[in-house]
Amino acid sequence: MNITVLNGPNLNLLGQREPEIYGTTGLSDIQNKMLDKVKGSKFSIDFMQSNKEYELVEKIQSLMNKQDQFIIINPAAFTHTSVAIRDALQATQIPFIEVHLSNIYAREDFRKKSFFSDVAVGTISGLGAESYLLALMYILNNY
Ligand code: DQA
Repeated sequence: MNITVLNGPNLNLLGQREPEIYGTTGLSDIQNKMLDKVKGSKFSIDFMQSNKEYELVEKIQSLMNKQDQFIIINPAAFTHTSVAIRDALQATQIPFIEVHLSNIYAREDFRKKSFFSDVAVGTISGLGAESYLLALMYILNNY
């Protein structure tokens, strides 16, 4: 099974961006920890971060009709706006877990609405960089 980890806008700045909210761990550190966890297993993993909505849509579309796919996605600000990314995920029917570093339900009202949670396998929000690792553990344990 291949796991694709998608990250939306501004997550390239992780570690430097509002560390009191998002922590001091950079995206490449998170990715390296995820790579470590799949090493030697039957799972492969790849990563993409983009600040552009259409690039995320196109990446999701590129996985359509491929066997044994799973997605972990932090849509970042697109969580609260993107019908297009939601539709792409729905179109491909690839199961996905939505992750957030911060607890989106404990912040501004506009962050409380997610276009993804109701169609996700599950959502992990508020556990910092570990949100990604816990999502990965779930896939490794169940697929
Ligand atoms: C985020 C939460 C979003 O509201 C925000 O726009 C982000 C990051 C998180 O991981 O906590 O960019 O998805």
